[in-house]
Amino acid sequence: MATSVPVNPGSIGSLLTRAPALARVARRTSDWIDLAWWTLERTLREVAPRAHGRLLDVGCGDKQWEPLFLPYVSEYLGIELEGTFTRTAAAGAERGPDLTYDGKRLPFEDASFDTVLNVQVLEHTPAPAALVAELGRVLKPDGVLLLAAPFSFRLHEQPHDYFRYTPHGLRVLCVAAGLEITEVHACGGLFSLIAHKLNSYLALRVARIGGVAQSLGKLGHEDPTRVRARLWTLPVVAPSMLALSAAARGLDGLLEEPDETLGYVIVARRQRA
Ligand SMILES: C[S@@+](CC[C@H](N)C(=O)[O-])C[C@H]1O[C@@H](n2cnc3c(N)ncnc32)[C@H](O)[C@@H]1O
Repeated sequence: MATSVPVNPGSIGSLLTRAPALARVARRTSDWIDLAWWTLERTLREVAPRAHGRLLDVGCGDKQWEPLFLPYVSEYLGIELEGTFTRTAAAGAERGPDLTYDGKRLPFEDASFDTVLNVQVLEHTPAPAALVAELGRVLKPDGVLLLAAPFSFRLHEQPHDYFRYTPHGLRVLCVAAGLEITEVHACGGLFSLIAHKLNSYLALRVARIGGVAQSLGKLGHEDPTRVRARLWTLPVVAPSMLALSAAARGLDGLLEEPDETLGYVIVARRQRA
């Protein structure tokens, strides 16, 4: 899933566009280091077998999760909010939404879908209760909502970044929408959280490789970045990031802290009327 962010000829982004094998290795390495992506992907993979029938991905972006869910569903439809999506880097990707809407009412009849997916979208709407009510409305009775929302994450996609979520807040939103939460999964623990924040600082502020990440199909939700990377910092920054990620994975497994995480994935079921 390559995001086609405009790249300067001679830049590292342009090199990656011309060398797909190198881009694949760089993308895999960056996914391993990026603990927010890695913990979310691992958790979505775990809950993916709950998906079935017709799936609607609300706020799908460049549909980066489609390959995880396709084996379990008969149809995968993605919808986006027109006003915000068109300004993100993901808008130039090969894959994208099947349709867009104005963010008020999803253009589907009640009870149209067996599964609704909503990944890292709820923090971007100023009216989360209204969005969760819409997610519940288009679900069939006993249909499944798979929703991911951040608990602690840096500001992003500004100014459309409004809230962070606890499992208790998500439960309140779900109950009001006729949904019962059946599973809550934390995406990483305390050490992933700390390491991810340090790595974001090193990558985005010190080495300034946000644009490189976008040419690998990452950070698709942000505006296209054209800041020049400080490649001369990489001999120190890259091994530091690798070491932080490796240490966090080990420490999260050894020392449990149930009150800290990067975010949550919940599974909820549409209750029968
Ligand atoms: C952080 S991105 C996540 C994209 C995708 N779900 C993913 O995980 O890669 C948030 C997306 O939510 C979309 N969005 C924000 N409010 C929305 C709404 N009310 N309905 C649908 N999409 C919305 C934005 O346009 C943006 O593409």
